[in-house]
Amino acid sequence: MKILVVGSTGLIGSYVAKALEKHGEVVGVSRSTAISVDVKDPASIKAMYEKVGKVDAVASCIGKVAFKSITELTYDEYLAGLKDKVMGQVELVRVGMEYVNDGGSFTLMTGILARDPIPAGSVAALANGAIESFTLAAAIELPRNLRINTVSPNVLVEATSYHSAFPGFHQVPASVVADTYVKSIMGKQTGQVYKLD
Ligand SMILES: NC(=O)c1ccc[n+]([C@@H]2O[C@H](COP(=O)([O-])OP(=O)(O)OC[C@H]3O[C@@H](n4cnc5c(N)ncnc54)[C@H](OP(=O)(O)O)[C@@H]3O)[C@@H](O)[C@H]2O)c1
Repeated sequence: MKILVVGSTGLIGSYVAKALEKHGEVVGVSRSTAISVDVKDPASIKAMYEKVGKVDAVASCIGKVAFKSITELTYDEYLAGLKDKVMGQVELVRVGMEYVNDGGSFTLMTGILARDPIPAGSVAALANGAIESFTLAAAIELPRNLRINTVSPNVLVEATSYHSAFPGFHQVPASVVADTYVKSIMGKQTGQVYKLD
């Protein structure tokens, strides 16, 4: 099994890549890897798939959004978050369909802010909600038995710089998030939003 991990150099992506190495060949990409990709640029996504070639699974661990008060956020900051976390991941699926073998899968990334908001989290909430709805919709019409799921965790134990912004939230170990990607990719489920609360 050949698995593409997008955002493999990040906190979640590095755990996901390591967990998936037990199950197949992992190709990790981000803006700073040998085969690079900028998910904000559709041409870059297409070029990355061309270089990687056919895969059996795509694991997306990306998504950058502004954390700012709703009274300060600009139109462009909302748009930038949508372009990165929403359209970046939609494009990984839309273009990626051609590169994922029959019966293969996409696993996308959202987070707790889709359902349990914090101040300054409205761009993240918007983006997460969009991707979770996209997951349900795409699952019923992806061709060739392709599957799609999304992992939606609480704040991570390891993401210490975020902890003060998430008081009382139940922190999730990165290993649990990584195991959920393994379940999504190695299992048979589709249209799932795995809520790791
Ligand atoms: N950390 C948490 O507690 C937590 C909890 C729930 C959900 N999440 C979500 O999980 C996702 C990843 O979080 P993280 O904490 O792992 O972030 P992170 O450590 O900052 O990692 C982000 C990864 O994405 C890559 N990346 C950034 N911009 C990119 C772009 N434009 N094109 C391609 N790759 C890009 C980065 O590598 P380069 O810089 O080399 O491109 C890196 O590999 C985010 O959507 C976040 O909202 C995180």
